[in-house]
Amino acid sequence: MTTQLLPGFTLGNHHIDVPLVLAPMAGITDLPFRKICKRFGVGLVVSEMIASRAVDMGRERTERMAELGDDEHPASIQIAGADPVFVAEAARWAVGHGADFVDINMGCPVKKICKQVAGSAMLRDEKLVARVLKAVVEAVNVPVTLKIRTGWDDTSKNVENIARIAEDCGIQMLTVHGRTRAQMFHGHASWEDIGLAKAAVSIPVIGNGDIIDATSAREMIRISGCDGVMVGRAVQGNPWVLGEVHAVLTGAPLPAAPTASERWLIVSEHLHHLAEHHGIRTAAKLARKHVIWYSKGLHGSAEFRQSFQTLTDWQQMLDVAAGYFLGLGGHVHQHILESVRHPSSPEAAHAV
Ligand SMILES: Cc1cc2nc3c(=O)[nH]c(=O)nc-3n(C[C@H](O)[C@H](O)[C@H](O)COP(=O)(O)O)c2cc1C
Repeated sequence: MTTQLLPGFTLGNHHIDVPLVLAPMAGITDLPFRKICKRFGVGLVVSEMIASRAVDMGRERTERMAELGDDEHPASIQIAGADPVFVAEAARWAVGHGADFVDINMGCPVKKICKQVAGSAMLRDEKLVARVLKAVVEAVNVPVTLKIRTGWDDTSKNVENIARIAEDCGIQMLTVHGRTRAQMFHGHASWEDIGLAKAAVSIPVIGNGDIIDATSAREMIRISGCDGVMVGRAVQGNPWVLGEVHAVLTGAPLPAAPTASERWLIVSEHLHHLAEHHGIRTAAKLARKHVIWYSKGLHGSAEFRQSFQTLTDWQQMLDVAAGYFLGLGGHVHQHILESVRHPSSPEAAHAV
């Protein structure tokens, strides 16, 4: 019998059985990426951050960013902004686009966002935080969640205050990335600081920052007492890490490392989803970073990277990538190569 490490939690009408959340990452966690991650047991996915002003402009790209897959639900759309009226409007728009939850980003450290006193810059103005949160909670009839850092800098950490404000304003789940804005992505995430937020409120707190494998997930949970974990950068090119963390959370045995053909099937499926979602031209640009990430640390990856990043033709990219990833297994099966070209064919399903 297996014992689940964390019981999951309820958000509105939904129960998140396995409290494993995929971190929103702008330019990365689009629908194709999330579809891949969902296969590894993620309990909750969040869209890339959508600026409330972008919603106002009604761009096609914004629409694509908000697109949720049929099998992704319950899923969250993340919005950002500092003007309560705009953010509330963006939240209504997100619900109109199928969001089961609206997540508000007050953790983004990017200069362009902070200059508009949005993202993590808002943490310096607790009254503004409350105004924005209240406006969004009042605007929509789905659970509203919040993602923060631990404060602006070391001298002004206010993670407990913000956590309490969030709960008072009706926020139903809080994610804490255990770094200050000043840290950007340097140093270590403080899992102790995540624990401060957890101790301050009774809503579910998701711990985030520096989970890279089963051991770090277990440690973060032990140190912070968090109700769930969110994994970001470690998933780039390595969705298998989600399977590991899923096993930690559910008490299942750790999965074996992927074989060469299993790895390639995930890569090829990801490429297929990219082409379907973005069209081949954009997919070819986006595929470069993903495929190179997938090759990281594998035999011959430096040479592969050099040749792959010069390619522009989609079919050639598929062929070169197939040759590399399947070559890692020492042999290439023709039926697997076929499945590369037609990822939804029975051969592909069989090979998985
Ligand atoms: C390229 C990149 C883009 C990101 N975009 C977002 C975003 O749109 N919204 C957000 O809340 N956090 C964003 N983050 C932060 C992550 O969600 C996460 O908090 C951070 O990477 C720490 O978690 P990790 O150590 O597991 O990567 C981004 C991070 C990276 C590396």
